[in-house]
Amino acid sequence: MKIGVTGATGQLGRLVVSELQKRTSSDNIVALVRTPEKASDLGVATVAFNYSKPEQLEDALAGVDNLLLISSNEIGQRAPQHKNVIEAAKKAGVKWIVYTSLLHADTSTLNLAGEHLATEKMLKESGIDYTVLRNGWYSENYTASVPGALAGGAFLGSAANAKIASAARADFAEAAAVVLTSENHKGKVYELAGDEAYTLTDLATEISKQTGKDIAYKNLPEAEYAAILKSFGLPEGLADGLASWDVSASKGDLYDNGKQLSALIDRATTPISASVAEALKTA
Ligand SMILES: NC(=O)c1ccc[n+]([C@@H]2O[C@H](COP(=O)([O-])OP(=O)(O)OC[C@H]3O[C@@H](n4cnc5c(N)ncnc54)[C@H](OP(=O)(O)O)[C@@H]3O)[C@@H](O)[C@H]2O)c1
Repeated sequence: MKIGVTGATGQLGRLVVSELQKRTSSDNIVALVRTPEKASDLGVATVAFNYSKPEQLEDALAGVDNLLLISSNEIGQRAPQHKNVIEAAKKAGVKWIVYTSLLHADTSTLNLAGEHLATEKMLKESGIDYTVLRNGWYSENYTASVPGALAGGAFLGSAANAKIASAARADFAEAAAVVLTSENHKGKVYELAGDEAYTLTDLATEISKQTGKDIAYKNLPEAEYAAILKSFGLPEGLADGLASWDVSASKGDLYDNGKQLSALIDRATTPISASVAEALKTA
C-alpha cells in the first residue's frame, strides 16, 4: 500500500511523515512536494507536486493508493488547487483520499471555511473513497504570540471570552497517520479538537504562571487588533485574517468538545500549558 503525503515539507506534513514512519516502512511513503529540495531530509521518496501545475499531478500520483491531501496554504487559491489534485487522483487510480479540512467547516463563520467546504464537496462527488479530518486550531497559532506578549506585557486578541479547543500540530499529525494506516475510516468526517478548552485570559494567566511576569489578556476591537498586527510588520492579509479569525472564535468556531482527536490518537491531546512551555524554550 503506497501512501502519498502532499505538503510534506510543511510543518504538519513533516510531522505526518515522521508519524507514518513509526507505523509503516518508509518504502511505503512518498512525499508529494512543491519544493523537492526542501524534502531531502524526510527519509522517504519525493516527487514534484505543485497543486497549481495540473500537468504534473497525474504522473506524480502513479502507484499511490492512499493520498493525504494537506490543504494548501495559498488562501483564495485552494479550491481550484485541490480540484486539480482530486481530478488527477481520479485519473491516476488513487483509491482513498484523506483531506485536512477545518473544524465544523459546514457551520463555521471563519472566512477559511468556504474553500474547505468546496473541497469536501468535490471529494464527495469524485467517487473516490474519502475521509475528512476537520482540524481545529493549532495551539501554535496562539503560542506564536508568546514572545510578543512578553515584549509588550500583554496578550492581545479579539476573541473575547471564546472557548478555544486547540491542539498541538503534532496531535493532528498523529491522527492523520493513524487514519492512514488503519481500517474503518472511509466515508467518515472527523471533528478534531483539543480535549481542554481555554480562553485567551486563561492563556495569558498560564504565560504569567510559567514566566513569573504579569501578562494580562487585552481584548481589542477587530480593526484595532489588525492595525496593531500590521504595525508589528505582519502582512496586511495575515493581520486582517488573524483579527477576523479571533472574532469567529468569539462566536464559538474554535470550540468542540467531542474529543474525537484524543479518541483517534488514543491519548489525551497536548494541553495548552505544554504548548506554552514549548514556545518559551525559544522565546
Ligand atoms: N488548523 C490550523 O490551525 C491551521 C493553521 C495554519 C494552516 N492550516 C492549514 O493546514 C495546512 C498545513 O499546515 P502547516 O502548518 O503544515 O502549513 P505550512 O507549514 O505553511 O505548510 C504548507 C505546505 O503546503 C505546501 N504548498 C503550498 N502551496 C502548494 C502548492 N501550490 N503545491 C503544493 N504544495 C503546496 C507547502 O509547500 P512549500 O514547502 O513548497 O511551501 C508546505 O509544504 C496549511 O497549508 C493550511 O491549509 C491550518
